[in-house]
Amino acid sequence: MSELNLILLGPPGAGKGTQAEKLTEDFGLPYIGTGELLRRHKSEGTELGREAAGYMDNGDLVPDELVIRMILDEIEDKGRDGFLLDGYPRNLEQADALGEALEESGRSLTAALLIDADDETVIQRLSGRRQCRNGHVYHVLFNPPKNEGFCELDGTKLVQREDDKPETVKRRLKTYHEHTEPLIDYYEERGLLRRFDGTRDAGEVNDHIRATLAMLRLEERL
Ligand code: AP5
Ligand code: MG
Repeated sequence: MSELNLILLGPPGAGKGTQAEKLTEDFGLPYIGTGELLRRHKSEGTELGREAAGYMDNGDLVPDELVIRMILDEIEDKGRDGFLLDGYPRNLEQADALGEALEESGRSLTAALLIDADDETVIQRLSGRRQCRNGHVYHVLFNPPKNEGFCELDGTKLVQREDDKPETVKRRLKTYHEHTEPLIDYYEERGLLRRFDGTRDAGEVNDHIRATLAMLRLEERL
């Protein structure tokens, strides 16, 4: 079967991480999440983590030279037979770098999955988000864990992300609209964009994405 090389696009809080958890299970794809990788560097206090921390806590993008190499190395390392990218690319430079790297190895993107949601929904979701140190995501109202305050999958403690404070969320939304939204046209022009309504129930969004991916695979075989 041909490989699936997928990226997830969408504003903060649209549900990229939530869908990624389901999709990596459904399709056996390695998950490469820029935010998760950067947060791990930050908590381990690596040089990259220390450099990235200020930008992340402010709601700004981490400079391209730090992120691009990190992600291309991950793809080479884990994503040789397909991948699901969450949080990359986030601007045109990163998109070009990914396109060029894939082309050099004779590969290409299968689709850019846009999970869209309005600013109001995003703000409501991020204020109630809780997450464990392994990146499993919950919401105090929309997806509460069975055992309050603890992850159902690994039992570790749930915490609120530092950048989910209201002021930082506003800044992240601004960054998204300015730098990342142009990627919608970029992938539309290349015939790769698939849109999903992220304001729907998470299970419904997952059904729609799975149906779309099944269709893409069928079309490829015809
Ligand atoms: P990153 O971690 O990627 O953050 P983000 O893009 O802001 O996205 P989020 O993780 O906040 O939202 P999500 O869409 O994953 O939503 P989730 O599924 O959790 O990046 C963090 C920072 O790192 C950036 O600000 C930047 O500084 C840096 N960075 C990362 N990548 C970079 C790059 N490429 N270049 C430069 N810098 C980079 O869901 C949110 C909440 O809603 C949860 O509580 C969930 O339970 C709930 N929920 C989800 N779906 C639904 C639903 N359908 N209905 C109801 N509730 C739902
Ligand atoms: Mg996420």
